[in-house]
Amino acid sequence: MADWTFVCNTSDVDFEDQYRFDHNDRTYCIYHLEDGFYATDGLCTHEDIHLVDGLIDGEEIECPMHLGVFNIKTGKVVLDPPCEDLKTYNLKVEDEQIFIEL
Ligand code: FES
Repeated sequence: MADWTFVCNTSDVDFEDQYRFDHNDRTYCIYHLEDGFYATDGLCTHEDIHLVDGLIDGEEIECPMHLGVFNIKTGKVVLDPPCEDLKTYNLKVEDEQIFIEL
């Protein structure tokens, strides 16, 4: 059964920007893309750097440390050095509030 956890309001995540969400000792990154909101683990799989400080380019997020790139929607590595994909999470928006399925 889905376990939805409130993250933030939609207005908290600017277009083409990210939002850091910390919950139960884990960090998640919420992205506002052209077609909606997406979520991945918040730390780069290379060296645990916060992706909230990275740069969004279309559907991709570039890690600020060694410029590794992941696809935000699939979590797949697009450009090394990371070799492990990011975990992605389902989101839903209700009444302008974002919930993550954990
Ligand atoms: S820490 Fe992200 S690419 Fe190295």
